[in-house]
Amino acid sequence: MSALPRQAQASAPLLEIGGLTVRYGKALALENVSMTIGAGEIVAVLGPNGAGKSTLLKAISRMQPSQGTLNLRGESIQPLAAHQVVGQGICHCPEGRRLFTELSVLKNLMLGAYLRRDRAAVERDLDFVYSLFPILRERAAQIVSTLSGGQQQMVAIGRALMGGPSLLLLDEPSVGIAHRLKLEIFEAISKIRDTGTAILMAEQDAQSAMRIADRVYVLEHGHVGREGTSAEMSKDDYVRQAYLGVA
Ligand SMILES: Nc1ncnc2c1ncn2[C@@H]1O[C@H](COP(=O)(O)OP(=O)(O)O)[C@@H](O)[C@H]1O
Ligand SMILES: [Mg+2]
Repeated sequence: MSALPRQAQASAPLLEIGGLTVRYGKALALENVSMTIGAGEIVAVLGPNGAGKSTLLKAISRMQPSQGTLNLRGESIQPLAAHQVVGQGICHCPEGRRLFTELSVLKNLMLGAYLRRDRAAVERDLDFVYSLFPILRERAAQIVSTLSGGQQQMVAIGRALMGGPSLLLLDEPSVGIAHRLKLEIFEAISKIRDTGTAILMAEQDAQSAMRIADRVYVLEHGHVGREGTSAEMSKDDYVRQAYLGVA
């Protein structure tokens, strides 16, 4: 995980996205999307189903081809393959978790570290994952399919952390999860940021997301409709009506 001080974010963004466009056949899923993510920031991407949130995260992790600028620490990652992007410190916790459900919790976590050779740091990161989600230490040998949805989400986030990210991409980490586990997951996301890791999080629960995010982008029909700090966006009339359910 990155040890960059949070102040570094003011000077150069960790990730700069410019004019990003993604097409599925003739359909435009993202059109001319521009964003920045600073080192150690939590940035939330809000938006309804089909807005392009997952497509954005897949484009950043190079699982989905895109046109436009994707600069990590000032260098383009557009020429890189998905596994090379992981090596650059971008780890993606995808929609629907994509776990190996017939393998143990520990095996799933360690798969996140498959590119790493720094064994001592991998052990430290495993300890960190267990400190975030103590239930996973207790259940380390258990087969993932026997866990609850919330616990499986913890495994999915943990696996992404085991890649040693400086930027963690989280796709709807709280969807379909019981309230108590959801609180635990949002608290863990804050703690991950406190270690210096930046987080870009797609979320439908706008209220919970804005509570922990530094900044917010609202994505609608593949465009950025609104952007600002969480404080600004929580006062924005449109965001309040459309996303916070305030009349
Ligand atoms: N693999 C795909 N092939 C064709 N269209 C897709 C594919 N994935 C997503 N889409 C379409 O792209 C748009 C954005 O989808 P997505 O990024 O999944 O949105 P969100 O995550 O915000 O719900 C939607 O209209 C969706 O139907
Ligand atoms: Mg999605």
